[in-house]
Amino acid sequence: MQLTDTHCHLDYNKFDPDRAEVIQRANESGLIRLLVPGLHHKSSKEAVQLAEQNPSVYAAVGFHPTDLDEFSESAFQQVKQLATHPKVVAIGEIGIDYYWVKEPEKRAFQREALKEQLHFAKKVNKPVVIHMREEDDAWFGQASVDLLDILTEWQSGLSGNLAEQPGVLHSFNGTLETAQKGLALNFYIGITGPVTYKNAEQKREIIRQLPLEKILIETDSPFLAPVPRRGNRNEPAFVRHIADKIAEIHSKSPAEIAVITTANAERLFAWGD
Ligand code: NI
Repeated sequence: MQLTDTHCHLDYNKFDPDRAEVIQRANESGLIRLLVPGLHHKSSKEAVQLAEQNPSVYAAVGFHPTDLDEFSESAFQQVKQLATHPKVVAIGEIGIDYYWVKEPEKRAFQREALKEQLHFAKKVNKPVVIHMREEDDAWFGQASVDLLDILTEWQSGLSGNLAEQPGVLHSFNGTLETAQKGLALNFYIGITGPVTYKNAEQKREIIRQLPLEKILIETDSPFLAPVPRRGNRNEPAFVRHIADKIAEIHSKSPAEIAVITTANAERLFAWGD
């Protein structure tokens, strides 16, 4: 079975003791490709270095909305330079986070930084990895509204392949309506470990209504470990548990889900052999 983890933060220090083993376990568990997104210029550089050292690892580069203290002209310049690397397949993770950031002027800066990075993604013709988190972890609110506004305007200015596959709404935690608006903009929807949680019936109901050819599976390691690993450090090998749950939701076999989601990731990130 060939699986893909389209979102794992392998540069985190939680992997310092055993990073090579974690990647090896992933490969032994059938993961053929892993995407490590950057959080700022230093983490983006580490993601690129991991991609250089490991054939199955690819990188995205960018500034996460809660890491914008790091966002300066020279730091952005470094990220732009990194984006020319052949194993950088996306710009991310970028987006909006109103959970950790409450001040209106800082939220306004998030939107500006997002727009600048979207503009850059268009320029270099790469898809984007989008982070979105609402205040108080609501399913819908101002973050969804602001994000959809910005993405709608950006997507309307795209053409060709990027317009058809502009990116992924990573670790999606919104309403069905928001997911449908994302799909209408041709975005993929990233599904993470919480889909396996006992109390997540409503989330599973939303996923049941998403077309399989628009779903990506992600661990978001070291966070959001799926059942039966919940509470532990997450790692890419556990992506299998998410695939199993999606198979159950969509009445398919795990092998079918692996084939479909790995093909989805290959289309979006254009990293096929
Ligand atoms: Ni992330």
